[in-house]
Amino acid sequence: MEFTIKTASPEKVRAGVLVVGTFAGGALSTAAQAVDKASKGKLSQVVKHGDLEDKAGASVMLHDVPGTAADRVLLVSLGKADDYTDKAYRDALSSVARTLNGSPAKDAAITLPDLAPGNRSLAWCMHQASRLLADGAYRFDAPKAAAKDGKKERGVRKIVLITAAKINAELEAAIRRGQAVAEGMALAKDLGNLPGNVCTPAYLADTAKALGKQFKFDVDVLDRADMEKLGMGSLLSVARGSHLPPKLIVMHYKGGKAKAKPVVLVGKGVTFDSGGISLKPGAEMDEMKYDMCGAASVIGSIKAIARMALPLNVVAIVPATENMPGGNASRPGDVVTSMSGQTIEILNTDAEGRLILCDALTYAERFKPDCVIDVATLTGACVVALGKIPSGLLANDDELAAELLKRGNDSGDRAWQMPLWEEYQDLLKSNFADMGNIGGRYAGTITAACFLSRFTKAYKWAHLDIAGTAWVSGDAKGATGRPVPLLTEFLMGRAEGTAD
Ligand code: BES
Ligand code: MN
Ligand code: ZN
Repeated sequence: MEFTIKTASPEKVRAGVLVVGTFAGGALSTAAQAVDKASKGKLSQVVKHGDLEDKAGASVMLHDVPGTAADRVLLVSLGKADDYTDKAYRDALSSVARTLNGSPAKDAAITLPDLAPGNRSLAWCMHQASRLLADGAYRFDAPKAAAKDGKKERGVRKIVLITAAKINAELEAAIRRGQAVAEGMALAKDLGNLPGNVCTPAYLADTAKALGKQFKFDVDVLDRADMEKLGMGSLLSVARGSHLPPKLIVMHYKGGKAKAKPVVLVGKGVTFDSGGISLKPGAEMDEMKYDMCGAASVIGSIKAIARMALPLNVVAIVPATENMPGGNASRPGDVVTSMSGQTIEILNTDAEGRLILCDALTYAERFKPDCVIDVATLTGACVVALGKIPSGLLANDDELAAELLKRGNDSGDRAWQMPLWEEYQDLLKSNFADMGNIGGRYAGTITAACFLSRFTKAYKWAHLDIAGTAWVSGDAKGATGRPVPLLTEFLMGRAEGTAD
């Protein structure tokens, strides 16, 4: 997808599709008014006849609109004017993206960025537009036998964002960054969508290495022997049941000053979670190929910020392994020693995410982080509590939590905070080790975070439980690329704060 920004009169723009917006009830945007005038009332007629529904994102495609240079005009609704929110703006753009994706047109001109919701800036509108439009064009090239025979690729490839304002470097940067975020999301989605027999720990490591080569940053991959030397008994206990060797992937993106403390991202990379000896039930078990979406999101975020050349230091750590019930697998009741020295009684081998993350979190200490954010498809309980709208957020630092909540709102990739109170820690008591790896029936997302908190005392830390947000099930089954928008928004905010 190619993006440019232009200042132009909408009716004079030559394009396969010209996109203009209107509010419910027929309050046309300025751009739509210009087209309406040039076409002697064509758009107001369509609205009057009731062809356009009120809901944000509803649209009608019009052909041969008189007085306009474009082949088609797509009139899209932004919902009620007095209820015009970020969500309505995004819904309109996502719907435009879907329409353009299936269109025979090759290029489109879009006037929506001038319709800023609330007090959002034009740069924000441009950033969101380019991200949503580029992301909307994502396709996973599934290995299906019949896919390729001579079918013409549909879908718009070139987009001009039209504004009445003067174009400046900030706006140009905003669309480049939006595209970079979409590129990071595409990588995260690809890794998530690939099956467990392809996207293995070694595949994740190769992907990270290839990115390091492309963008010129260092990537270390630690093997089983390295992890043994470091005493990562907890991480290694999960890998025992699989024939695939585990990897600890460490990406060092250095865009900031040499001495600036890095943000450290940690992503759960369980490339398939069968549950291990505490085997999961069969239904929908295929979806446990998505159990590496935390890893995919941190790798995708590194790609996005490397593309932006963000002036910031970021380390991404991915503990990658399968969780399988092989003959050498951990048993319920086994006690293992983590890298931190704390011992863990494995009461349920299906609570494996925390077992690999705890050693990665201890390893993170060596980078003297400014803060650490881990991202994990950690608990089914999070989906029960919050559904599939926000990611769960727990943190040992309220400022960091607030910053993430804000960046979630700004990016439209939201999180919701849950309490990490001391009282919950009791649920992790074990008679045979420093802690058990499960906390019983209640508050599963919180007890999982409590477990992790015992390994993050040395730094400011936040945990994102993305079990509900990393993929969608059903007919549209696939990875979402979340929380790449949230993480990149956070990192862009940090880079702004540290820029010279
Ligand atoms: N990967 C799963 C969490 C998960 C389950 C994500 C369903 C998305 C959908 C994780 O490893 C797991 O199995 N967690 C257990 C923990 C339990 C044994 C304490 C769970 O949530 O059931
Ligand atoms: Mn599990
Ligand atoms: Zn898991």
